[in-house]
Amino acid sequence: MNGAQATMGGKEGYQRICEWLQIRSGITYQEKKKLLLVQRMQRVCETCGISGIDALADLIESNNNQDIQLKVLHAATTNHTYFFREPQVLDFFRDTILPTLPYNSGRIWSAAASTGNEAYTLAMIAAQTRGRDWAKNNLTILGTDISEVVIAHAEAGIYNASHVDQIPQSVLNGYFDPVGMGQYRVQDDLRRLCTFRRLNLKVSPYPFNKRFHAVFCRNVLYYFDREHQKDIVEAIYDVTEPGGWLLTSVTESLRDLETRWVPVQSGVYRKVP
Ligand SMILES: C[S@@+](CC[C@H](N)C(=O)[O-])C[C@H]1O[C@@H](n2cnc3c(N)ncnc32)[C@H](O)[C@@H]1O
Repeated sequence: MNGAQATMGGKEGYQRICEWLQIRSGITYQEKKKLLLVQRMQRVCETCGISGIDALADLIESNNNQDIQLKVLHAATTNHTYFFREPQVLDFFRDTILPTLPYNSGRIWSAAASTGNEAYTLAMIAAQTRGRDWAKNNLTILGTDISEVVIAHAEAGIYNASHVDQIPQSVLNGYFDPVGMGQYRVQDDLRRLCTFRRLNLKVSPYPFNKRFHAVFCRNVLYYFDREHQKDIVEAIYDVTEPGGWLLTSVTESLRDLETRWVPVQSGVYRKVP
C-alpha cells in the first residue's frame, strides 16, 4: 500500500476511525487535524500489514482485534511530555501541597502519565522537599494512561539523553543512573514509589479504593469535548480527598465548565474541604 492510496481510500474510513476514537476514548479530532490523523493511521497500516484506512476502520469496528485497537489508540494520541514541565504548577505542588500531605500516606495520581516523566518529576520534588526517606516510605504515586506502550516505557523508567538534557545536572546525578547507549534510568527507590497502570479517563467511575490527595491531569483535557472534560474532572473530584487538589496545565482552564472544583490559581483547583 502506498500513502496516496491510503489517503484516497481513507475518506470514509477516516470518519469511522474518528467516530470510534470519540466513542472509545473521548478524543475529538478536529477537521484541521485530519491530515495528521490520516498519517498516523497510515503508519499503523504499514506496520501491521493492513491494506488501507478503510480496512483498518473495519478491523477496529469489528471489535475482535484488541491489539489493533490499542495500536490505533496509541497512534492517535500525542504522548509528548517532559521532566519538570510547567514549573509554576510544580512550584505550587512543592510549596503548598507537599507540606500538607499526611505524614504517612500521601497519595498522588498522574492521570495522563504518558512515559512517566510527570510521575517521576513529582517523586523527585517530594524527595528534594520532604526528604528521600519520607518519599520512599510515605508517598505513593500512581501513573495511568490509555496507551499500553507508554505505560511499559514508564515502568521501565529509562530515558534517552534527549529526554533528560533539560534536567539540571545535580538532579540527573542524584536521581538517575546512566545505563549505557546515552540512556538514563530513574533510580530504583524512586521507581518503586511509582506504579503505572492502563486506565481510560473516559470510563468512570474510576476504580480506586482510596482517594488521592492530589491529581495531576495535565495536557490531556484538550483532547476531549466539553461534555467529556466535565465528566472527567467531576469523576476525578469523586476520587479526591476533601481539601485535595486538581492540577491541570495552565492552558487548560475549567472556567467554562460547571464543576465542583474551586479555582485557586491558574492550573490549580481544590475540592471543598
Ligand atoms: C500530551 S500527554 C501529557 C503527559 C503529561 N500529563 C504531561 O503533561 O506532560 C497526553 C497523554 O494523555 C493520554 N491520553 C489520551 N487520551 C486518554 C484517555 N482517554 N485516558 C487516559 N489517557 C489518555 C495519551 O496517551 C498521552 O500519553
